[in-house]
Amino acid sequence: MNELGVVVIGAGDMGSRHATNWIEAGARLIGVYDPDQNRARRVAGRFEAEAFTATEVFLGRSDVHIVSVCTPTHLHATYTVESLDAGKHVLCEKPAALTLPDALRMKEAALRNGRELRIGFMRRFDPASHQLMAFRQKIGDPVMAQTTLAAGVRPKLLMHDAAANGGPIIDMCCHIFDQWAALFGEQPDTVRAHGYTFSENKIELASIQHKALDSAHITLTYPSGAVGHIHVSWGLPGGIKPLEYHTYMAPEGLITVDWPKQVTLMDASGTNHWKGRASDPWLTQISQFYRELLDGEPRHLATIDDGIEALRTSLAVLESVAQGREVRPVEITGEMPSLVERALG
Ligand SMILES: NC(=O)c1ccc[n+]([C@@H]2O[C@H](COP(=O)([O-])OP(=O)(O)OC[C@H]3O[C@@H](n4cnc5c(N)ncnc54)[C@H](O)[C@@H]3O)[C@@H](O)[C@H]2O)c1
Repeated sequence: MNELGVVVIGAGDMGSRHATNWIEAGARLIGVYDPDQNRARRVAGRFEAEAFTATEVFLGRSDVHIVSVCTPTHLHATYTVESLDAGKHVLCEKPAALTLPDALRMKEAALRNGRELRIGFMRRFDPASHQLMAFRQKIGDPVMAQTTLAAGVRPKLLMHDAAANGGPIIDMCCHIFDQWAALFGEQPDTVRAHGYTFSENKIELASIQHKALDSAHITLTYPSGAVGHIHVSWGLPGGIKPLEYHTYMAPEGLITVDWPKQVTLMDASGTNHWKGRASDPWLTQISQFYRELLDGEPRHLATIDDGIEALRTSLAVLESVAQGREVRPVEITGEMPSLVERALG
């Protein structure tokens, strides 16, 4: 077979990006599905693909081999499981899901059907991540890490909805949890967090019934002795431009990151600046998955297990906020929906 067919579910920003990238990677975009038919038609029309009105229409087709799930997060599991059960391979956007039971269902469906399932932690393919990994090898252990992720209230309401995308602790911090798992070579063993809803009284979010925590101070410890702090907020006044900075201190040096533009190493030999981004990580990720499926190249994308671990850490953060104590991520099990509800008060 020299070409695989793809359908994208969810014709928003990421769906549109996936559609473009699949074509650039060499796949055939068969169509786009979104209950908002105007959106589906708009994206499909750009590529002379079909705008589907129901999943059954394309999941039964033998020329559809891959499904890209680009819906709001609470719908990831439904479409991923349905697609895997129809025998398709799936690239699901990050985070894997909103709850652990959903993420586990996705894993079971992949195993049950013998199909490939990857989670879109595209930062793994960002040149800034590669540079950070390279500099990290030079600074020794233990590492003290600090990341600040700050933005005004997000324009997409679903990003603040505890029942949809889950707020930044699930939606945004999953990127950092996945990066740090790679950087430190392990998952955290303890989590302590304080959380806030800075946007509680913001008029633009008045229609959201269950607002997610939008701000948190998080401390993670790792078995090897690494420790990380995250300051995150999506609840600042609108108009504040999103910013993301990291610092990593260790006995042999200091790394600073102005994500994703600049990574700097300061060590005994001086200061070494790296400036990116030379390539598009979303395209690199999809091209890599395409080669894995078509040519059997080794797997490089995040697996559902990686997605589950990042989600487990997010849920441990919410649990720590709710209970006012340190939480071990291993405590987080399949009972998570009730824990999430408790964390959100
Ligand atoms: N990897 C990244 O860099 C990155 C960046 C942004 C968002 N994301 C993730 O991608 C996902 C989508 O985010 P987005 O920014 O594209 O959102 P978006 O709001 O731009 O698009 C979501 C689309 O899903 C559609 N949709 C809603 N209900 C649906 C349903 N029942 N069935 C099918 N489609 C439905 C909407 O009509 C919309 O077109 C989220 O999980 C988000 O966390 C990832």
